Amino acid sequence: MTIMLADGRPMPRIGLGTWPMDDRQAHQAVTYALSVGYRLIDTAATYGNERGVGAAVAEAALPREELFITTKLRGSQHGYDATMRGFEESRDRLGLDYVDLYLIHWPLPGHGLYVDTWRAFVHLREQGLVRSIGVSNFTPEQIERLVEATGCLPAVNQVELHPFLAQRELRAWHAGQGIATESWSPLGAGNKLLDEPAVKELATAHGRSPAQIVLRWHVQLGAVPIPKSVNPERMRQNLEVFDFSLSQEEMARLDTLDRGGRTGGHPDTHVEL
Ligand code: A2P
Repeated sequence: MTIMLADGRPMPRIGLGTWPMDDRQAHQAVTYALSVGYRLIDTAATYGNERGVGAAVAEAALPREELFITTKLRGSQHGYDATMRGFEESRDRLGLDYVDLYLIHWPLPGHGLYVDTWRAFVHLREQGLVRSIGVSNFTPEQIERLVEATGCLPAVNQVELHPFLAQRELRAWHAGQGIATESWSPLGAGNKLLDEPAVKELATAHGRSPAQIVLRWHVQLGAVPIPKSVNPERMRQNLEVFDFSLSQEEMARLDTLDRGGRTGGHPDTHVEL
């Protein structure tokens, strides 16, 4: 099951997040995830687990075109030349010929380099080393600068998104532009979202787990969630959200949980190198 990106490439509708797994955990988790049907695996240079992800992918020996491997550029490698090097390092650790989706991990506006970085991303795509290029944690204004400078729209913006931080305006803007929204910390990053009465009651009503209710909310919004789990049973259940649906009223009930509750950094201020 896929969505179509603006660049014409399909992207799975759900994936496995791998932060904060180390190489060993990622190797084990990704091996299991691929065996139960995950095809989108999300990692990043800063996670320090690209080798583990790559080893699991190699051992699974699945047809390459079935897989959708995402990684992200670390902040200390912004700028054209550093990006080209940073990409090669990631690709080498992953052991892949190409990466399906490459993201600028954070805009780091204080560095003033994300436009140059984006030029390198466009080049990597032209070279066929990356199939789709996108960003993470960008604001509309920052994305507009990329498009003005290069004429090239990011296919994806991966942002913190869950019912406590529903990102309504940003999602509407993405939809207007044709940018796919990918949700990090889709389960609310351990913020007791899964204990909310609204979530628990819907879980009981549907005979599902609270996590499945929240992941179904993402899917029905058209967002691509990448829940992290190292637990096989949870990994399996997180994938099983395509055989039931939430009514409009149920979706609206979850929408009332929105309180702008960010657990991670803000695009304008976050510094991660
Ligand atoms: P674990 O890895 O032990 O399963 P997010 O992706 O929103 O940051 O959430 C990740 C957190 O949610 C992790 O602590 C993960 O723990 C936990 N988690 C993942 N899937 C489920 C699930 N189906 N039910 C409950 N907790 C889950």
